[in-house]
Amino acid sequence: MPNTNDLTRLFPPDFVWGVATSAFQIEGAAFEDGKGESIWDRFCRVPGVIADASNGDVACDHYHRLDPDLDLIAGLGVDLYRFSVSWPRVQPLGEGAWNEKGLAFYDRLVDGLLARGLAPHLTLNHWDLPQALQDKGGWASRDTAHRFVDYALGIQRRLGDRLAAITTHNEPWVVAVLGNEEGTFAPGIQSRRTAIQVAHHLLLSHGLVLRALRAEGATAKLGIVLNMAWTMPLTDSAADQAKARLDDARGRRWYADPLFKGAYPAEVLAELGADAPVVEAGDLAVIATPMDYIGINYYSRALSSAAGPVEAKDKPYPKTDMGWEIYPEGLYELLMTMHREYALPPTYITENGGAFPDPTTDGHVHDADRIDYLATHIAAVGRALAAGVPMAGYMVWSLMDNFEWSSGYAKRFGIVHVDYATLARTPKDSALWYRDLVAASRALR
Ligand code: NOJ
Repeated sequence: MPNTNDLTRLFPPDFVWGVATSAFQIEGAAFEDGKGESIWDRFCRVPGVIADASNGDVACDHYHRLDPDLDLIAGLGVDLYRFSVSWPRVQPLGEGAWNEKGLAFYDRLVDGLLARGLAPHLTLNHWDLPQALQDKGGWASRDTAHRFVDYALGIQRRLGDRLAAITTHNEPWVVAVLGNEEGTFAPGIQSRRTAIQVAHHLLLSHGLVLRALRAEGATAKLGIVLNMAWTMPLTDSAADQAKARLDDARGRRWYADPLFKGAYPAEVLAELGADAPVVEAGDLAVIATPMDYIGINYYSRALSSAAGPVEAKDKPYPKTDMGWEIYPEGLYELLMTMHREYALPPTYITENGGAFPDPTTDGHVHDADRIDYLATHIAAVGRALAAGVPMAGYMVWSLMDNFEWSSGYAKRFGIVHVDYATLARTPKDSALWYRDLVAASRALR
């Protein structure tokens, strides 16, 4: 494992370090101070969909522990904090009336970050769509894209002058495919056709928001966050290689091509046939509106086989608690591929990290496996940077253990441990290691 000094030497002085969370996963206070219902509040009530039958009602209770949590972040010495706004907290029905108490919470959050010298990176949509909009069709309805623009403008008017960055959407693939095709995530719909239309409206709303915020003089940097695996064929056979190319086009290029090239991949469109999205004239130009940055979330590689889904026994690398193979080389290959295929703006790793069982000894969490995961992936980012990829920053997922969607609270991604009985926060060894890494990087500035 590279030591922190060797690692930091890979990065220029202006490379920034951060930690990330999202509203639904940490805030709790799901029905307080006028917050509206989100699709995840509703989905968690469906029997059997969340592994431990939990929900986000309390989560990490971040809503009531804002100041100590901000102190915790500041204690890590990082440059930035990536968080999301709960749309139904600030605009309970997703349109019309604003909820002042919700806005005031994010006001305090942003001011609290600035007071501690931390740059606020705000995400508008980390999946918790107002249920009232889902009742009108959700992202499958084109109108939701326009509601999203109004919401974004409201956030910019209230907070925009103090934000370093605004991300429109986090991982649109997850919303489309897990939420609307497989139905394992909210809103739990199972329709490929719906999912494809959802993906189009997410991308469209992203471009509309960039244009609307800029027209009102946005000072924050504007971009989107995409999840990407490094997709590899299971074997060298021509059939597996072709399947890997198709899977890569479905999962990665379906989003990156329209954003950077203004076109959907032709081979996926052909495969979709009648399920292809309804695209209006001008949509693709809107989607391709230039971004100030791109965020990439990377966790693992994906294996493709023409014979069908690849089983765990055919995945030889060590796995995290999610069952995801640990494959830092894939991050390097992915970044190199993105750099080769597109004219990348400044590029951030907006999420990277691992869930591990985290044995506790003497009140400490000695998570050597997580430190190793982070160190090897950060080294991969450093190598990509040295090879010319415009890498601008790295953010750990996650600041603290939290609600891991359909896995509930059993999977722990935090560098800070959360005791869900007491809600006490305890930095794990990985938090101390990351703090040292950032400090070493600062010393070189
Ligand atoms: C991506 C998502 O953005 C985040 O919410 C989730 O917890 C992590 N990946 C880990 O699965």
